[in-house]
Amino acid sequence: MKKKKNMNQIIFLNKKNLLSKLEIKKIEKIKFKYKDNHAISIESLKVVQRYRHWISDISLKAISKYLNIELNYLEEISTFYSQIFRKPVGRHVISYCDSFVCYVKNYKRIKNVLEKTLKIKTGQTTKNKRFTLLQTCCLGNCDKGPILMINRDTYTNVIPKYVNNILNRYR
Ligand code: FES
Repeated sequence: MKKKKNMNQIIFLNKKNLLSKLEIKKIEKIKFKYKDNHAISIESLKVVQRYRHWISDISLKAISKYLNIELNYLEEISTFYSQIFRKPVGRHVISYCDSFVCYVKNYKRIKNVLEKTLKIKTGQTTKNKRFTLLQTCCLGNCDKGPILMINRDTYTNVIPKYVNNILNRYR
């Protein structure tokens, strides 16, 4: 019987830098559309993050090596882009928008309920590693603020009394 290939097996680019075959396959799929690898930096980071849940220094080096782009450049954009996580995160990542319109719409009430319910501060992860709470800049839904994002799900016009019901979907 033919043995099934493990696409997520790590391949060695050099002694320290590793990407899996699956990650490389996904990056290659995006890569062929662009001439300059800088254009696919964010998408490549997202690919690796999808499988590892965050971007470690080792992953960052591996991507830099694979795409042949400067490590500093990748570091800068991964720091700038709030949905790329440079520290380990919980199973579900909750982000509330704290940009101007959500500020006016009193996002702080949502933030306070989240922190109180989860018993963590923004930037922290719950003890059971289920939730990480982060702030983020404008998510492009300003007219429907305050906005909450959990993983890829967006919640609009959030009011404090519904926060617990929303969290229950991820418990
Ligand atoms: S200001 Fe919050 S979504 Fe734009």
